[in-house]
Amino acid sequence: MKNVTVVDHPLVQHKLSLMRRKDTPTALFRQLIREVTMLLGYEVTRDLPMTSEPIDTPLKQMDAPVLTGKKLVFISVLRAGNGLLEGMLDLIPSARVGHVGIYRDPDTLVAVEYYFKVPEELDERKVIVVDPMLATGNSAIAAVQRIKEAGAKDIKFVCLLAAPEGIERFQEAHPDVPIITAAIDEKLNDHGYIVPGLGDAGDRIYGTK
Ligand code: URA
Repeated sequence: MKNVTVVDHPLVQHKLSLMRRKDTPTALFRQLIREVTMLLGYEVTRDLPMTSEPIDTPLKQMDAPVLTGKKLVFISVLRAGNGLLEGMLDLIPSARVGHVGIYRDPDTLVAVEYYFKVPEELDERKVIVVDPMLATGNSAIAAVQRIKEAGAKDIKFVCLLAAPEGIERFQEAHPDVPIITAAIDEKLNDHGYIVPGLGDAGDRIYGTK
């Protein structure tokens, strides 16, 4: 699929399988999502701009590679996005953070926005939007639309699982936004859940069911 990267690294796949198991307890699920996110983060940050600066090692001076450019921005689609956010911040603690509050109306599955707060100068920054489940695509599409309206031009979308239907709809709306995921599952069910999936990501992260 064009503009979609599936991170099929054995560690990602193994940890994801543990997360999918219905009897995996909340604490372990949370630990695993953090670990998987760091591995996804490794992939998604591959093209960060670099420069070099002179440093002294104990043995000699050298020009050492370092990150450059304006601080990266992670934007979490609440609430389940926060599960991915923590792993990303473990990797890049100096990143700026935004939040988009969007819930799915349980009857219509339509995305409804209730909160929006993002850092300034989005147009000059690389933005990574995080939301574990790209299901119908409704909330991801709405979140990225708002983020574009706030000025962002360079956006990537990171999730744990994607449904083929969600990918198709997302790419129709935002063909310029690459998707990075750990897996593409079979389909959506009638309630908009990814099958086989891992259930409700927010409930599994926070133990609310
Ligand atoms: N949101 C979830 O948390 N799980 C799904 O399977 C789909 C949307």
